[in-house]
Amino acid sequence: MCGIFGIVVEQEQPLGEILVEAGRRLSYRGYDSVGCATLRDDGTIDLRKDVGKIDAVAERLRFSEMVGRRGIVQLRWATFGSPSPANAQPHIDSDGDLVGAHNGNVVNNVELRQQFIAEGMTVRSTNDGESCVHAVERYVDRGDDMITAIRRAYNDLEGDYAFVIGRVGEDTLYAFKKGSGLVAGIAAGATCVSSDLPSILPLTRRILRVRDGEIVILRADGVELRRVEDGSLIERESEEITESMEMVEKGGYPHFMLKEIHEQPTVAGELFRLLEASPHVEQMVTRMREARHLYLVGCGTSYHACVLGSVYLARLAGRPAVPVLAPQFIPQYGPTVGPEDVGVFVSQSGETKDVLNALAVARQRGMGVLGLVNVIGSTLMNESERYLPLACGYEISVPATKTFMNQGVAFLYLALRMGGHSTAILANLPDLLEETLKRVEPQVEKLVPDLAAADDLYCLGYGLTFPIALEGALKLKEVTYTHCEGMLSTEFKHGPLSAVYEGYPVIFVAGPEDVPLLVSGINETTCRGGRAIAVGEEDERLRANANDLIVLPPSDPVLNPLLATLPLQLLSYRLSLARGYDPDFPRNLSKTLTVD
Ligand code: G6P
Repeated sequence: MCGIFGIVVEQEQPLGEILVEAGRRLSYRGYDSVGCATLRDDGTIDLRKDVGKIDAVAERLRFSEMVGRRGIVQLRWATFGSPSPANAQPHIDSDGDLVGAHNGNVVNNVELRQQFIAEGMTVRSTNDGESCVHAVERYVDRGDDMITAIRRAYNDLEGDYAFVIGRVGEDTLYAFKKGSGLVAGIAAGATCVSSDLPSILPLTRRILRVRDGEIVILRADGVELRRVEDGSLIERESEEITESMEMVEKGGYPHFMLKEIHEQPTVAGELFRLLEASPHVEQMVTRMREARHLYLVGCGTSYHACVLGSVYLARLAGRPAVPVLAPQFIPQYGPTVGPEDVGVFVSQSGETKDVLNALAVARQRGMGVLGLVNVIGSTLMNESERYLPLACGYEISVPATKTFMNQGVAFLYLALRMGGHSTAILANLPDLLEETLKRVEPQVEKLVPDLAAADDLYCLGYGLTFPIALEGALKLKEVTYTHCEGMLSTEFKHGPLSAVYEGYPVIFVAGPEDVPLLVSGINETTCRGGRAIAVGEEDERLRANANDLIVLPPSDPVLNPLLATLPLQLLSYRLSLARGYDPDFPRNLSKTLTVD
């Protein structure tokens, strides 16, 4: 999840400031490295890049001096490979007459790099953006024109990405799209292309949306779209953007939380494809399989993913794994663990102090340390023997949504692989998530007027939906400031039932296999006047016993908990607004807690 921007102007001019400004507008995605390249009329490429924040890198490397007729800026958000000057983008080809940068993931990067090295090309980094450049270089060297070379490269580069590239001695930039976003802008005497609209809008509001399998050719006086398949021209009307900049940054959504909720089908699909091609999965699985005891360690949302992971590992791989809140790991397991044991430390940020404290104890005891992280280059990534990236991009809203989804996807994937099962069910997940969002949004909306005034709620689940109930309750309490407890459904009768009064809302997350058990709990609540809101697949038993049923699409029972996450996220979001709060930045909370 990086950001790219490329521009072509009529004559050579200072481009540094334009590129830095465009880069700043890509920065809300999150990034660790920055680079700019300009192509000059004398046939040279000026390439400057480094790790750091855009303003600091721009000043240090004097981006403001950069001139050219064409320019590219890239902000890198690392997925594999540490943030480093070599891995920063853009990249040049072997002999330095092509320069390009990408956004996204090329999943066959490792294989491609080996091929390029074997073919005698100069490979300077481990970054997959460089592979995009060499993939074009390969065909240019064989005599292809740029468009033909790009069409061939497109077929060689697997994954979800968008890419922009320029060649010395021309006055054109080329960009192409497979999976990741790409938009072209048309201004007077200039055209541009970017992964993100906000970086285009200061230059022009006239844009062309590029689709998968299309190449956009940028010249100062206009853009041309061509099909990768046969190189034929595409006719498409440009459009005028009328939304405010703030709205555009939020992808047209009023809040980042809602945008991130809606990104889940995409990021889940991207992570699945990444894991399918990842050489790290097998190594992780082997390490986890060989462990004497396996611990899954995290805090907050990440801990709930650990609970889900532990149910997946038991069910699909017959492998016991202990989910544990990171600070409690220290007194409860710290004195007992040793080199035969392995911990999977889970953290979106990779910087949560509670998690790092537990990790320090684990390392002191010689225990194996694996990581599941979203922020590459984070302390957790650096301290782990091996890690898997969550590949969600930057999550801006304080309540975690898409990162919980991909933590669940990663654990499900590991459990399937460890159990020797096919991973094919995960291929359906993006469509199922999309369908769930469509179906549940109006159902959730209907509940909002009744629930907005509730100051106490419970959220119950069992088995695979127990962690979903915990996470749903956490979302609700984070953004609505209500007292909301997540609990095992069967525990409710052992105490909290005493609090139930007329209309008391209790949410039951009912997995398709656990409906009879949940129906008992539902009745224990409703017969005391409580209001039972069930979340589950269409089921006459739930219909007959609960007051409300939020219906999920039918799916494999191991996918069901991931689908059930969505209505609880949406309900939290809607109730937060109904109560007059800002769901993106709840009071008293912080996205990353680097304190004890
Ligand atoms: C904070 C955030 C939570 C998050 C938790 C763990 O409390 O507000 O949303 O779940 O930290 O964060 P991590 O980055 O380690 O997943």
